[in-house]
Amino acid sequence: MRSFVLADPLDFDGWREAARRLRLAGVEPAEVRFVVGHSRGDLFDEAAALPEVEGAFNAPRAFMETAAQLIQHRSENRFDLMYRLLWRLKDQPDLLNVLSDQDVAEAADRVKAVRRAAHKMKAFVRFRQAEDEAGEHWVAWFEPAHRVLQATAPFFVRRFSAMRWTILTPDGSAHWNGEALDCRPAAEQAQAPTEDAMEDFWRTYYASTFNPARLRPQAMQSEMPKRYWKNLPEAALIPELMAAASVRTEAMVTRPTSRPNDRFQRVRAPVVDRAATDDLAPESLDELARGVQGCRRCPLWRDATQGVCGEGPKRAALMVVGEQPGDQEDLVGRPFAGPAGRLLGAAFEEAGLNRRDLYLTNAVKHFKHEPRGKRRLHKTPNAGEVQACRWWLDHERRLVKPRLILALGATAGLAVLGRKPAVQAERGRVMTTADGARVLLTVHPAYLLRLPDPARRDSERARFLADLAAASAQF
Ligand code: URA
Repeated sequence: MRSFVLADPLDFDGWREAARRLRLAGVEPAEVRFVVGHSRGDLFDEAAALPEVEGAFNAPRAFMETAAQLIQHRSENRFDLMYRLLWRLKDQPDLLNVLSDQDVAEAADRVKAVRRAAHKMKAFVRFRQAEDEAGEHWVAWFEPAHRVLQATAPFFVRRFSAMRWTILTPDGSAHWNGEALDCRPAAEQAQAPTEDAMEDFWRTYYASTFNPARLRPQAMQSEMPKRYWKNLPEAALIPELMAAASVRTEAMVTRPTSRPNDRFQRVRAPVVDRAATDDLAPESLDELARGVQGCRRCPLWRDATQGVCGEGPKRAALMVVGEQPGDQEDLVGRPFAGPAGRLLGAAFEEAGLNRRDLYLTNAVKHFKHEPRGKRRLHKTPNAGEVQACRWWLDHERRLVKPRLILALGATAGLAVLGRKPAVQAERGRVMTTADGARVLLTVHPAYLLRLPDPARRDSERARFLADLAAASAQF
């Protein structure tokens, strides 16, 4: 038996080169063992030199794909299994289709386990807010069942492209700085922050989506295996929710049955639950923010991750109203956290406004979108949705009592003025609404982001800055 040393547990290139030479030299799988780095102590001293051979051969694409997944499996003998399959493919090119074959079945099981680990990683990574010299930074600690970090990191790049984040795992870490992905060696959990405001979000989200009538503990644990619980803030709720489930189920059962077409009506009628909330006026912005999480005034809550409320000083003199949360805002639960928000923040600075002094909110509190492949494409809220959500905005206005409202774009204009404005014609000057509020209208920052012509973008940005400066002089 000869042992060959690979540089690290994911050293695919090292394995491929060794396997190529061994197969060309006719070295049988039973004579070979692959080990990683120095992990085998004295075995390392006996590591064999690879045979010098000329030539090459093509491995089938299906095998290469299987091998790229198999290597992520934690089993020590995965490289040996890969070599065995490669060796046998020489005489049996259709081997991978023979599902009754022991090696093929073993490989399929391991690939399945790796895929499942990647899927769990996508579902259960929880970022926590941190701060470093460059500002806001999101950090997650995760313990994947297999070594799936590197292969799964591009998913997080696509999903959280506008945030700076780090995922730490016992096998290594992945860092995204907004432009480049960098994977580094093993990390310690101590580097990950443990508590922040996001815990509450995950707990609220989980509790609100928990349906006691669907409680099947075994199925639930197979979806959210216990091994992941310790790093999931919402998992702390599971025992409590399970205990309360029987009581809640009973309450659901004894409630009068709904009419068969209720669901249809809910989908069609945009404001079904409006009556239920019209009588209750939130007494504080915190109460209002909690209420928005349960809002059913229009159907947009169904596809959103959460409601996104305003943020800023309770008595800000300037309230800035946007259209609706976008993809990033929907995920992190804060207004103007994505690309339009960054443009707006920079423009505020240039116009001498400090974002921290302003109350930022939106006309509509849930993200309206439609799926397009893996992306969620923004859709403009319609007048009914704006009208339904205006109830929340009106209460925000009542509680904050701003001296001036800056409305960004037509949807914000509609929500604040109660009519669809002609933005270009009405922008940049203070208007007074029927209820006495002072409003200054300008374009939405996303409009500037979409302009393809750089010269036009510059001139429109200058007009936008002038509008912000006008607002700044008016409160
Ligand atoms: N666009 C908005 O109008 N609001 C946000 O919060 C983000 C983007």
